[in-house]
Amino acid sequence: MPGPWPLTATRDDAGVLHLGGVAVTDLATDHGTPLWVVDEDDLRERCRRYREGFPGAEVAYAAKAWSAIGILQIVDEEGLLIDVVSGGEIHAAVVAGVDPARLVFHGNNKSCAELEQAVDVGVGRIVVDSFEELERLEQVAAARDRTVPIWLRITPGIDAHTHEYVRTGHDDSKFGFTLSLGLADEAVVAARELMHVELVGLHSHIGSQIFGTDPFVANAEVMLELIARCRDEYGVELAELNLGGGMGIRYTHEDHPVDVARYGKAVVEVVEETCEKYGLPVPRLVVEPGRAIVGPSTVTLYEVGTVKRLPGLTTYVSVDGGMSDNIRPALYDAEHEVALVNRAEDGERQPMTVVGKHCESGDLVREHAPLPADLRAGDLVAVAATGAYSDSMASNYNRLPRPAAVLVRDGAVRELVRRETVDDLLRRDVPLR
Ligand code: LLP
Repeated sequence: MPGPWPLTATRDDAGVLHLGGVAVTDLATDHGTPLWVVDEDDLRERCRRYREGFPGAEVAYAAKAWSAIGILQIVDEEGLLIDVVSGGEIHAAVVAGVDPARLVFHGNNKSCAELEQAVDVGVGRIVVDSFEELERLEQVAAARDRTVPIWLRITPGIDAHTHEYVRTGHDDSKFGFTLSLGLADEAVVAARELMHVELVGLHSHIGSQIFGTDPFVANAEVMLELIARCRDEYGVELAELNLGGGMGIRYTHEDHPVDVARYGKAVVEVVEETCEKYGLPVPRLVVEPGRAIVGPSTVTLYEVGTVKRLPGLTTYVSVDGGMSDNIRPALYDAEHEVALVNRAEDGERQPMTVVGKHCESGDLVREHAPLPADLRAGDLVAVAATGAYSDSMASNYNRLPRPAAVLVRDGAVRELVRRETVDDLLRRDVPLR
């Protein structure tokens, strides 16, 4: 099965999909649909492959991909650091029991309250994104008589070929200090003058869902050149380098991402070579994948509600979720593979457009998916690789409760996220009478 499906995915003789040794038909009966099903072995295995793929480096999991407490706990158990981007994500990590010293705090507009929270809980590294933030953090740290270790987020001018909304390393970006405009150098000099922040390293992230190693290699070279210049021109020694996340994953059989071992080898090698070239000690290296850790572990199970066949036009398959539990197709034209999973897929296939139940034509799950011609109401379909940026970007559009998530392993099922109820949906409302 694998391709874009989790590592333990298999079909039984009747064609029913099993994940972690559990039939999806049983999961749908016991937990309802839509349902996120997380293959625990897959998730743990990807954490391990990353750690092994980057010998000598540290791996930080970008929690924005999915910050469910159980996910953070598993990733923490596997020895990854955790990258957080808001007070809410810091809180989730702390509640998950993660040692705050293992947190890396990003964001282009961290509030004073968030900086205070980060300093008070003892977040390991704060990644400063702007001159205002540098000043704010100095004040927060000074008020507490603390010295806070920081990295500066550098915008390295690497134009990775990915969707415009998920590119971050090119010059014209809201993130970080733009290298080509001299802002990175200015920030290094400004940070050096401050008494309560200690500049220990640099960070850059060039974008997301990137295939191929070249942009990552170029990023490492550019960043090390900057580190060498900081030493030579400003007398600033920087011992830590975070090269960001962004490694692409397989969403459909047509995607061919780079194997993590190859990616790790390319990056570690270029870092060593470039350090030698500049006479630099090899820095403490960090990479921070989100999608590549959690994305492939999870499938979304939906039940088909209607199948509308328009002769000569499209066949629409409506499922019981949609853009509220996976905004990616609507937002990025993302394609996730879809399969019929409660019975065998043999027989004639026909292109079908799988849509959600929201009141919007753009509420797509997958256009023109080749699905069995006899697909009917009551069937279960699974959508691949929905662990990253699905639950974390979910909404309650049209007042749909967000799905539950379960963790499966060796035939056992554990609840990870409770299904929302209609009462949950009204929790924020303040009735006027
Ligand atoms: N580090 C930083 C500073 C980031 O901004 C991001 C992603 C990551 C790491 C992790 O990137 P990853 O390895 O997951 O690609 N919602 C979009 C993706 C937005 C990514 C934002 N930043 C999507 O669903 O494709």
